[in-house]
Amino acid sequence: MNTKNQFSRRSFIGTAVAAGATLAAGGSSTVAAEHPRSQSTGGPGSFPKDFWWGSATAAYQVEGAAAEDGRGPSIWDTFSHTPGKTDGGDTGDVACDQYHRYAEDAKLMADLGVKHYRFSISWSRILPEGRGTVNEKGVDYYRRLVDALRQHGITPHATLFHWDLPQALQDRYAGWQSREVAGDFGDYAAAVAKRLGDRIKHWMTINETSSFAIGGYGVGKAGNKAPGIAVATEKARWQIVHNALLAHGAACQAIRAASPGRCSVATAEDYSSFVPLTETPENIAAARRAFVRDNRNGAILMPILTGQYDAGWLEDHRASAPDIADGDLKLIHQPLDGLGFNCYTGAYVRAADNPKGYETLPMFDGYPKGNMPWLNILPEAIYWGIRLVGEAANRKNLPIFISENGCADGALPSADELVRDTDRIMYYRAYLRQVQRAAAEGYPVIGYFSWSLLDNFEWACGYSKRFGLVRVNFKTQKRTPKLSYHWYQEVIRQNRVV
Ligand code: NOJ
Repeated sequence: MNTKNQFSRRSFIGTAVAAGATLAAGGSSTVAAEHPRSQSTGGPGSFPKDFWWGSATAAYQVEGAAAEDGRGPSIWDTFSHTPGKTDGGDTGDVACDQYHRYAEDAKLMADLGVKHYRFSISWSRILPEGRGTVNEKGVDYYRRLVDALRQHGITPHATLFHWDLPQALQDRYAGWQSREVAGDFGDYAAAVAKRLGDRIKHWMTINETSSFAIGGYGVGKAGNKAPGIAVATEKARWQIVHNALLAHGAACQAIRAASPGRCSVATAEDYSSFVPLTETPENIAAARRAFVRDNRNGAILMPILTGQYDAGWLEDHRASAPDIADGDLKLIHQPLDGLGFNCYTGAYVRAADNPKGYETLPMFDGYPKGNMPWLNILPEAIYWGIRLVGEAANRKNLPIFISENGCADGALPSADELVRDTDRIMYYRAYLRQVQRAAAEGYPVIGYFSWSLLDNFEWACGYSKRFGLVRVNFKTQKRTPKLSYHWYQEVIRQNRVV
């Protein structure tokens, strides 16, 4: 299929390509580009002035109201309603009911002191069929949400896709398995930016490509995330990833073309981070080598930021690399105003006398964890992730914000529902010190969104894992700030780790 033809039939593209060309040539009409270069101004230990203190959630995890006001089903509705797919058969039907309780949640944010809220927009609320007629009632919900935020001086940051693909597109052409999804995602992005661009200036296209594009599809077995499909080969999975990259590119163009005013376009990736076992020049060089060759970096982040799959990654994946059509890399490689880094964990690396020049150290069951099997606690990963990405992509001034960071807690509530989550405080404190280190050394880190504001629907784990600063009693919907909420409040107030 000819990609150029596929995308040029869409009305937004002509304008968008022109806009992209201006930006690539050095012009910028963006919000983030105006942000002052990151620097520590408040003395030792403090964060930069105007640092974005925020918190994050995602539509399917918090909104509920699954069948209200014309929302169409998403693949997560189908998956969570399939017996055996989620812990306890939990679904997002009600979740935190943020659809009705957004005003209360905005107030919780205001009391916390966050000035930025990252949330996602449900594609099937806006386009119940995934394409075609816009459901204006769905748009109105996000107007209400954003207006409530703005009443408290909280800046909205919207992600267009946080895993909840409209089921109609899954049924129509197998969703992310088809290149067609990129055009539909672009049209959806244009519809949203046109209608909400007066209120929302900060956009992220896609959240964690690998999580849904690899996690949703197993090779020879069902994936453990929606749509939970089995594919025959690794190559088929990388083709799905490639389709998601095309969708990212189409959405960047669409947002810029459709937004009524200046805006900032970013993406949010859980790219891999590598921590030199000791900070020697040899091990730091090893971390650089490991960084670009890694799956999530070499085949997702690098194409987005540089327009090329990493050569080492391609060498490692001769048989399984995706087919790349003419024009694909150009579409994928759109100018970005910022990069969201979802950071939870990482890997230790050191120099090694082997053809790659590095080895990663194994993680193991007994390694300290954030109450999730995959969440190895490695605070330095956030520093190295910020530092290495600019070097790897040769974009040393690219503004980076932590679009997610957090852990599940193991603490139980007492009778008054207060959760004494000292484990989360330990986790946040350690990671934030590393973010501060990066800022103090001059790396362009401009913000931090804790994951999550609220306990919420943790995908296949249902409600059994709690990532919130605020406890949600899912029987009563009562919100109770945890100890970590009060700790984070003080961090924000003092603009330093306390
Ligand atoms: C990353 C995902 O973006 C988010 O949806 C999820 O809840 C957290 N990781 C924790 O697993």
